[in-house]
Amino acid sequence: MYVLGVESSCDETSVAVVKDGREVLSNVVLSQIDIHKEYGGVVPEIASREHVKGVSMVFDQAIKQAGLRYEDIGLVAVTNGPGLIGSLLIGVNAAKVVAMNYGIPLIGVHHIAGHIYANNLERPIEFPCLALVVSGGHTELDLMNGHFDFVKLGETQDDAVGEAYDKIGRVLDLPYPGGPVVDKLSAIGKDSYHFPRPMIDSPDYNFSFSGLKSHVINLHHNMTQRNEPIIKEDFCRSFQEAVTDVLCQKTKRAAHEYAVKQVIVAGGVAANRGLRAKMALTITDIPVYFPAMKYCTDNAAMIAAAGYFKFAKTGVADDLFLNGDSRLALN
Ligand code: KG4
Ligand code: ZN
Repeated sequence: MYVLGVESSCDETSVAVVKDGREVLSNVVLSQIDIHKEYGGVVPEIASREHVKGVSMVFDQAIKQAGLRYEDIGLVAVTNGPGLIGSLLIGVNAAKVVAMNYGIPLIGVHHIAGHIYANNLERPIEFPCLALVVSGGHTELDLMNGHFDFVKLGETQDDAVGEAYDKIGRVLDLPYPGGPVVDKLSAIGKDSYHFPRPMIDSPDYNFSFSGLKSHVINLHHNMTQRNEPIIKEDFCRSFQEAVTDVLCQKTKRAAHEYAVKQVIVAGGVAANRGLRAKMALTITDIPVYFPAMKYCTDNAAMIAAAGYFKFAKTGVADDLFLNGDSRLALN
């Protein structure tokens, strides 16, 4: 079955065609990063308008690149939350138009389920499985006992990891989004500040990154006032070591407690090279997998993949009353 995936929850307009939940025939991503860069972050109103401008072209390109016609599509899967409501609505309504026009079943997909299923594009997920989700909006550990069976073990109590990365990037005057740049500078920096590792020993699986973020920002502020030289690379490396220590230690403990067969990492921060390297060194007795780099950040191939398995499990499609929900829950 050919699934048409649609993603527009933040600042990427993306449409993809995926065969049988695994084989990507096309994955067109129109990124708005260059537009939002000027403001140092995503401006919701501008994001919605840019989605409107690009959405028709992205649909057509995805179909054309897959070498198909809309009549060949067996399911339309669209991100219906969480995310920016104005942005979500563009993708949801465009998906409805195609579904209604061609009489194709429509299914809403949770954005985080999409990120998790990006892993399934590489190799089938084996259960029980532990998913560490690290994106710009989410940081959580989910246990999966089967397809579309998510049990949240813990989550951030404040900032998401990607959000903290982007804030540190902004303070260090790095281009938006900060995450990839902080990662790059980390590679040539030293962990000279040894920042705190928040909640690393707490018995639960929750996280907190706002205290660490403030610690880094305050130190930067104080050093600037004292005219002390700021070595950006060392700030980046010290921050990245603190964050990845917490993520790796908590993931390792949960993986053992729930005796999972696989650990998978998902979301934009799964592209982080420091996290990839440290996770492999920390968890050596259970296979740890990351999506291909191009499927870590927002894309529609992951939504199509997730939609396929959701529909296969439930057999239930959504009706045309499907709506965007900025705070949609995973379960
Ligand atoms: O999953 P995503 O595309 O969007 C959300 O669903 O939030 O994630 C975007 C986030 C941004 O915060 C970005 O800075 C971060 O992922 N990111 C990274 C890296 N690549 C993207 N953070 C750290 N290291 C990276 N290499
Ligand atoms: Zn995302």
